[in-house]
Amino acid sequence: MREPSSTSSNTKAARNPRQMNIVLRNSEANHTSYSTLRYGTDEAAALNESKSLNREPFAEIAKEFDSFIGMDHVKDIVYEIFALLQISQYRMDIGLNSPTQVYHMLFKGNPGTGKTTVARILAKLFLSMGVLSKGHLVEVERADLVGEYIGHTALKTRELVKKALGGILFIDEAYSLARGGEKDFGREAIDCLVKSMEDYRNQFILILAGYPEEMDDFLSMNPGLPSRFPLQIDFNDYTVQQLMQIADLMAKESQYVFAPQAEMKLRHHLAEEKLNCGYSFSNARYVRNLIEKAIRHQAVRLLQQYSTNPSRQELMLLKTEDLRWERKN
Ligand SMILES: Nc1ncnc2c1ncn2[C@@H]1O[C@H](COP(=O)(O)OP(=O)(O)OP(=O)(O)O)[C@@H](O)[C@H]1O
Ligand SMILES: [Mg+2]
Repeated sequence: MREPSSTSSNTKAARNPRQMNIVLRNSEANHTSYSTLRYGTDEAAALNESKSLNREPFAEIAKEFDSFIGMDHVKDIVYEIFALLQISQYRMDIGLNSPTQVYHMLFKGNPGTGKTTVARILAKLFLSMGVLSKGHLVEVERADLVGEYIGHTALKTRELVKKALGGILFIDEAYSLARGGEKDFGREAIDCLVKSMEDYRNQFILILAGYPEEMDDFLSMNPGLPSRFPLQIDFNDYTVQQLMQIADLMAKESQYVFAPQAEMKLRHHLAEEKLNCGYSFSNARYVRNLIEKAIRHQAVRLLQQYSTNPSRQELMLLKTEDLRWERKN
């Protein structure tokens, strides 16, 4: 886990002089990371005193977000959404109109940059704020939506929309729906989705996700679409430093640590892989797969090495020889 006083929140504090910490009404009150809520001083004081103040939903989300490396921009947008929902509630409480908002979104990012993870977190936030009634995530791709004969696509798409009612319908690699040109059934899926957004207004949230460039092309080919997705979130590739932090975090979560030499080997490999694979590099997912593999290799090594129980330290340590990957030419 990241240390409570994270660098990112410290940087944020330095950037924004209007920022102040509001102690959250939860057991993690001393958390100084993303749980820091940002308001100007007067507003903060007023809000802090408000009886109807209900930050628990966000405190929960913030706690989860704290364990994520980087993603500052994504965290800011999620906070904006929370702020809007909370303020709408306050406005309604005193009889003011609440701003009408559309929460359909576009996620643009390369593989493994956290899109699905953030969609899950958002589903929880929308559930706790009463926007969604169930808060589940239905994750699909082209093959789940597109059928094989006329009418089949609309049937499949409508079924999935129904399944997603009360939650989020998340379409990965959404640009592939426009892949096959005019006659492709993918277009039928797009039309059906657009219609469902109107038929089931406010009953589900649609998130279209995919590689940044493909998504931009997809949007430019479907001029009616961008305005239906007012929220667009960019998921950046992780730097090698961030990938290493993610690796440490994932290892720690499973109670493993890297030997110093293993850490160096991993850093070197990630830098090389990131360079060689370009935009198809699968970021944090790649790191997770490498660690899972290393854990399996460590298990075999220990069994072969010891006839009795290995020590606690040995059980936790991932060594250079556990980090193995296929050599690509
Ligand atoms: N910033 C982060 N900090 C820690 N772990 C992360 C971070 N981003 C992603 N992960 C982890 O990496 C893995 C991949 O993330 P996720 O599935 O959300 O990516 P994705 O963008 O949806 O990938 P894909 O496009 O391949 O579907 C998950 O195990 C997730 O927990
Ligand atoms: Mg995903």
